Amino acid sequence: MPASEATVSVMDRGFLFGDGVYEVIPVFGNKLLRAKGHLERLSNSLHRISLRHPFSDDEWMTLFNTLLEKNPGDDRAIYLQISRGSYPKRDFAINAEYPPTVFAMVLQVAPPDIDVVSAGISVITVDDFRWAACDIKSTSLVAGVMLKQQATEAGVDDAILVRNSMLSEGTASNVFIVKDGVLSTPPTGHKLLSGITRELVIEIAQNNAIVVKVRDIRASELYDADEIWMTSSTREIAPVIRLNGEEVGSGKAGEMWKRMVDLYQDHKQQLRAGKV
Ligand code: PDD
Repeated sequence: MPASEATVSVMDRGFLFGDGVYEVIPVFGNKLLRAKGHLERLSNSLHRISLRHPFSDDEWMTLFNTLLEKNPGDDRAIYLQISRGSYPKRDFAINAEYPPTVFAMVLQVAPPDIDVVSAGISVITVDDFRWAACDIKSTSLVAGVMLKQQATEAGVDDAILVRNSMLSEGTASNVFIVKDGVLSTPPTGHKLLSGITRELVIEIAQNNAIVVKVRDIRASELYDADEIWMTSSTREIAPVIRLNGEEVGSGKAGEMWKRMVDLYQDHKQQLRAGKV
């Protein structure tokens, strides 16, 4: 139905508690990028919050295809969220008798302008005061909103989150550093979201003889990095050119970034052509 006609109860727990999970799945041509990875992560998020999965993967795919048919375009994304539904009373306790609320929509996405992207972004580091369950793609996003606002108030594009002197991720992205030709990113776990773009970047690097190390990264290493990237489904791979007011590496998007972006764009072309 048209978004303007869709309604949700004020008693919905997604609204009252942020009690839900979500996914953002990029679509190129009519092809979903890494649908399996997104659906696996969705299952993990649902399992972690003790919410039963409302659909099978096949049912999701049917629903996605219907949405895409009804909202034609080229570069798009599917946003979906599942909340714990609405109960008659506001109550912290879970009652599995009530069905979840499922919502999905198609976002029309402008293809990234490579000139704009390669100009790079400026970021600050901020204290990662989020909870210890960052692997859940939860709709309780107020911490991320507050951290992003710190970046906005500092006049920069985004923030890199640091917990106990260690790098975790971005407000809505994962972080990679490049030093002496080696690409590194922190391991998954409860401290960060297991990004699908992160996984794809690691896979592309490994397939192209780029050395990748998944390891804990000290925040101090950021200042010494030749390159810093932030990755997400909507942002793809963004080069960071300024960190806390200082230039990163040469102060321009780096050579490794250029190589990775080309490889990533090739992957998208192959996806459009049905080859991956
Ligand atoms: N966010 N870390 C966090 C906290 C995120 O919110 C996201 C994505 C990522 C990157 O994940 P992926 O590569 O699967 O998009 C990492 C989405 C895009 C959002 O909230 O809009």
